[in-house]
Amino acid sequence: MKYRLLSEREKQSSWKKISHFFTIIDNEFVPPLSSRGDTVKSAIKKNDTAEVIVAETNGKFVGIVIFWSYYYKVRSSYFHWLIVEPKFRSKGIGKELTKKAISRLHKKRIKTIKLVTYNTKKVALKIYKSAGFKIYYTRKNIKGPGIDKVYLVLK
Ligand SMILES: CC(C)(COP(=O)(O)OP(=O)(O)OC[C@H]1O[C@@H](n2cnc3c(N)ncnc32)[C@H](O)[C@@H]1OP(=O)(O)O)[C@@H](O)C(=O)NCCC(=O)NCCS
Repeated sequence: MKYRLLSEREKQSSWKKISHFFTIIDNEFVPPLSSRGDTVKSAIKKNDTAEVIVAETNGKFVGIVIFWSYYYKVRSSYFHWLIVEPKFRSKGIGKELTKKAISRLHKKRIKTIKLVTYNTKKVALKIYKSAGFKIYYTRKNIKGPGIDKVYLVLK
């Protein structure tokens, strides 16, 4: 497995391959991502400060992590999407992508990394906690009974 940060040029030219990941996970979110309109994809596409690290095998992207940096303002980052193709899950790819993204941000002297996920995303939470993220806020039942939004930070 190869892990690499996409250049700005490749990020633009790989947009189809990147957006494919949002189709894969559509139903893994409540409500499905598609029901939220195109806001998720277009937010990333328009935001040219987003960085993308991919896990690649035989020229195919099988995992991605997408994050933003706000270096000039507060030296902080917002870690947004972590997605692995279902066939390639439970092989340590999600964990490795997370490590690579954190290390990239630390190299850029980013001091605070924040992210938002759900209590139902058990594997993702395990990855984030083992990377050192701590929950600092929870919004209960935000997407339905028992589905809490959790806010994490790594300092
Ligand atoms: C979350 C996600 C990225 C995890 O990727 P992954 O490559 O399967 O995760 P890893 O193989 O690195 O596993 C990380 C840890 O979880 C454990 N794990 C993996 N799959 C598991 C499962 N189905 N059940 C329980 N534990 C599991 C692993 O054993 C590993 O634990 P360890 O640190 O003790 O070794 C992947 O499930 C995914 O794409 N989900 C849909 C999108 C999503 O929810 N993203 C996160 C919120 S934005």
